[in-house]
Amino acid sequence: MSKNIIPHSYQVSKEDRQIKNNHNSFLLWFTGLSGSGKSTIANIVEQKLFEQGVKTYSLDGDNIRKGINQDLSFSPEDRTENIRRIAEIANLMVDAGIVVLAAFVSPYKKDRDNIRSIVKDVNFVEIFINTSLEECERRDVKGLYKKARAGEIKNMTGISAPYEVPENPDIEIRTEEYTAEGAANNIVQFIQEKLKLNNE
Ligand code: ADX
Repeated sequence: MSKNIIPHSYQVSKEDRQIKNNHNSFLLWFTGLSGSGKSTIANIVEQKLFEQGVKTYSLDGDNIRKGINQDLSFSPEDRTENIRRIAEIANLMVDAGIVVLAAFVSPYKKDRDNIRSIVKDVNFVEIFINTSLEECERRDVKGLYKKARAGEIKNMTGISAPYEVPENPDIEIRTEEYTAEGAANNIVQFIQEKLKLNNE
């Protein structure tokens, strides 16, 4: 399909953009159950990076699924396609010199491994927002668990669809032991070295 597609090489490179921005660009990928706190924590991390002068952008399930991925359901195949498209979008943004924060349930290990291969290992930081199902269900911010228990939502992660726990995440946040602010501070601290350009 892509045999006649020959990439053009542009004069402004990713490295030029990173030097201009004065930081590296990469993808912070937040995975965890619905209601685990991914978007809340990502949002605080983004504010802190923004204050630090870092160029950032956030992608999350609820906004992407209303737009570019509105044709996708929660079947395993559609979740795979959901994550693949987001990884490709994130890859473009990383190439544009931006630190991308992406908060998606992304329950399948093979899909998360695929993100790693799309954006490349060095650009991928996997953050496991580890909140127990009991706690997510207790919070039930969006009322989805109640509906899932009542059989009104099928393929609900944690109830009627699996969540494959990351085996070796770069960062794991047990939200029942931290405040969202504390969790965000840990993440910001963790990536400080990664933000630095090689010649610093
Ligand atoms: S993913 O599995 O494909 O990565 P994504 O992060 O885009 O999921 O979307 C998850 C969000 O959609 C949840 O936070 C929740 O608000 C909503 N949602 C609706 N139905 C489901 C479902 N069956 N399973 C999980 N989340 C659902």
